[in-house]
Amino acid sequence: MVIKMKILIVGGGGREHAIAMSVARSGRADKIYCAPGNAGIGQIAECVPIGAMEFDKIVAFAKEKAIDLTIVGMDDPLVGGLVDELEAAGLRVFGPKKNAAILEGSKAFSKDLMKKYNIPTAAYETFDDPQAALAYLETASMPVVLKADGLALGKGVLICNTLEEAKDGVRTIMEDKKFGTAGNRMVIEEFITGREVSVLSFVDGKTIRIMSSAQDHKRAQDGNQGLNTGGMGTFSPSPFYTKEVDDFCRKHIYQATVDAMAAEGRPFKGIIFFGLMLTEKGPRVLEYNARFGDPEAQVVLPRMKNDILDVIDACIDGTLEQTELVFEENAAVCVILASNGYPLSYEKGFPIRGLEQFENKEGYYCFHAGTKLTEQGIVTNGGRVLGVTATGATLQEARANAYAATEWIDFDNKYMRRDIGKAIDEAEK
Ligand code: AMP
Ligand code: GLY
Repeated sequence: MVIKMKILIVGGGGREHAIAMSVARSGRADKIYCAPGNAGIGQIAECVPIGAMEFDKIVAFAKEKAIDLTIVGMDDPLVGGLVDELEAAGLRVFGPKKNAAILEGSKAFSKDLMKKYNIPTAAYETFDDPQAALAYLETASMPVVLKADGLALGKGVLICNTLEEAKDGVRTIMEDKKFGTAGNRMVIEEFITGREVSVLSFVDGKTIRIMSSAQDHKRAQDGNQGLNTGGMGTFSPSPFYTKEVDDFCRKHIYQATVDAMAAEGRPFKGIIFFGLMLTEKGPRVLEYNARFGDPEAQVVLPRMKNDILDVIDACIDGTLEQTELVFEENAAVCVILASNGYPLSYEKGFPIRGLEQFENKEGYYCFHAGTKLTEQGIVTNGGRVLGVTATGATLQEARANAYAATEWIDFDNKYMRRDIGKAIDEAEK
């Protein structure tokens, strides 16, 4: 007999909607709660008005409802130690503890770890003092990459083409504290070039299982122009993630990272997201994240055949070695429908029309990110509003399906990139 579980998901974006969908598909979920959730998640889970950083309230809620499993989707609560607090209260939880989430929470930590364990990454130096950083820049070759050490909503990375720009960047991060305390320390890194690939994995402390690859589109405008965003669209699998690349990463990056964390007394249980750059000299780690990507989860999870709760249980219990991940032999593309003006300023509160078109359409998903349920129905409530995902037999087919489905939805100030997955055509050449 299957024992039905009560699940709590922490977060409220498109990624958490994709996680909630996977959990809802599991035969083992009885009741799903999400804190704080959003209007789309509210259709498959009960949203509770508790913020992801309100640890005491989350613990109290999980106890009161006798939650069997909490899944923490977001980086901030992971890095802040929510997993430790839930465990201390005797609750079962999926995600890295604070001492392991530092893999994402501190760029200096992750760079030092890679150096110590020979995991391929761009050359770098770490600085606690702006004067030392400025002096170092005089000797560095341009362009150069500046990274605030801590979490900065994916915005703490500056690519500088000239010495002057770089010096201004150091002052912005370390003196003006544009990214707050994330900039108390910084990493200055060699600029490397190549195609980027996102690889997500499940980890149980010792064993790692790799999910199907994906590629994000971080810039706001077509042709990779404009400002960096949280991600404007994704596709999975990446045709650039070849067998050769996979072999290299398995040999030098994936298990090496898990072993390194264990050797440091920081065993990692949860999701490791490897942000890779495929350079001429081979794959390099650009960054680690301690959670699913957003919007990578929106193309990877719909293609996963495993019951997500089985895989999560194996991670928590340390039995992942006995699990193989299986993905559909298809492809998926996600196009983000944003509010015009994102990532800077934008208006919100506009009614969204057409959401019902996704009901009972196999292979089509409308993941909510910034939406809210009001008396007027569901309205826009953020920069990234929806993630429209479609699957297809090939990447081209998935892309055509996803773009067709973006037309089903309408709201004032709707904005999207028109070239998500254009790189797929290059791969064919
Ligand atoms: P991160 O948050 O570390 O992934 O950096 C954000 C983005 O900055 C990456 O997705 C890359 O596009 C770019 N980036 C980061 N590090 C480097 C680097 N060493 N060389 C070139 N581009 C980089
Ligand atoms: N899509 C990039 C991220 O989730 O960090």
